[in-house]
Amino acid sequence: MKNKCLLRFEFYNEDCIAGCRKHIRDNSVDLIITDPPYGIEGDKLDRHYNRNESHVIDGYVEIPNTDYPDFSLKWITEAERILKPGGSIYIVSGYTNLIHILNALRETNLQEVNHIIWKYNFGVYTRAKYVSSHYHILFYKKKGRKHTFNTYSRYADHERSDAGGSSNYLDREDVWQINREYKPGKVKNKNELPTQLLAKMIQYSSNEGDVVCDLFLGSFSTAKVAKGLNRQAVGFELNKTAFNYQVQEVDKLREGYLAGELRKPPMNKYVNGGKPVGAEERKNILASYARCVDNGMTKKASIANLSEEFGRGYWSILKVIDGTTNASSLRSDKEQQSRLF
Ligand SMILES: C[S@@+](CC[C@H](N)C(=O)[O-])C[C@H]1O[C@@H](n2cnc3c(N)ncnc32)[C@H](O)[C@@H]1O
Repeated sequence: MKNKCLLRFEFYNEDCIAGCRKHIRDNSVDLIITDPPYGIEGDKLDRHYNRNESHVIDGYVEIPNTDYPDFSLKWITEAERILKPGGSIYIVSGYTNLIHILNALRETNLQEVNHIIWKYNFGVYTRAKYVSSHYHILFYKKKGRKHTFNTYSRYADHERSDAGGSSNYLDREDVWQINREYKPGKVKNKNELPTQLLAKMIQYSSNEGDVVCDLFLGSFSTAKVAKGLNRQAVGFELNKTAFNYQVQEVDKLREGYLAGELRKPPMNKYVNGGKPVGAEERKNILASYARCVDNGMTKKASIANLSEEFGRGYWSILKVIDGTTNASSLRSDKEQQSRLF
């Protein structure tokens, strides 16, 4: 971890496009997580969602629908400029203006990594059609260096879910079910992103000490979680009331306050995962497998044993064994695989 005294928190009550040009250097940000205004008359979202908004901070700044394409291109161009090569950006978007965000992204050299669907509760109630209960999260990276992706930051390679599948694999699927936070009686922004959602993006796509930027801070949720996970935070918010209130809220938070609340995955067991299997190791795996089979173990149990012994995952051991198996045992592998994942 970088020296905590060097952690920087800079927030500007300014338009993010002009503000970026003025304050943020080229290639200086490790990660951007941002949730632009939706261009669907944000000030009427309470009616849209049938919400009681008495604790919502006034002054949400919306973008007229007709300006959305040009506005999106301008802020995304700035986002690309300030990202370091290999830096990542996550953009949260509803469906209405998704096309404009995608069109703007295509005008840049940012590269798509994933299109994530975030499924949440509190969907819009409808009678004569399906209920809308998801957002889009566009995960892109800037070319030039390998992007940070901490594959095992939340689940180790060998951890299993209650249903028996790989927890790591399940956590890294591109459909995320994370509920919005219900905060009755608390001051909030119109569309506050949940801590769990932000923590997930920050854990996978940045390291302690990295600079995390949010161009549309709203309730400063990104900055709060970044600070809680010992990252630096910069960002912009045009709403003066929200800005003045939230800047003090962030200030009250202790650096790293969230770090103790997150689960710490155990050490990976598959320490040789990703390394090529040499001839000697292949011979040893097959010899051990033959011993397991001689002892009456099933193929699945044998592979579990060999995984421990050779520090390799299921698939890597299976591949070695399959070099010697026939079609009927491959069929039973397929059945086993579908049970595993
Ligand atoms: C969807 S909300 C962000 C919500 C935020 N992610 C949260 O969790 O609270 C979008 C925010 O962008 C602000 N905004 C709109 N136009 C802006 C601009 N040009 N520059 C900076 N902020 C802007 C709005 O006032 C609003 O608070």
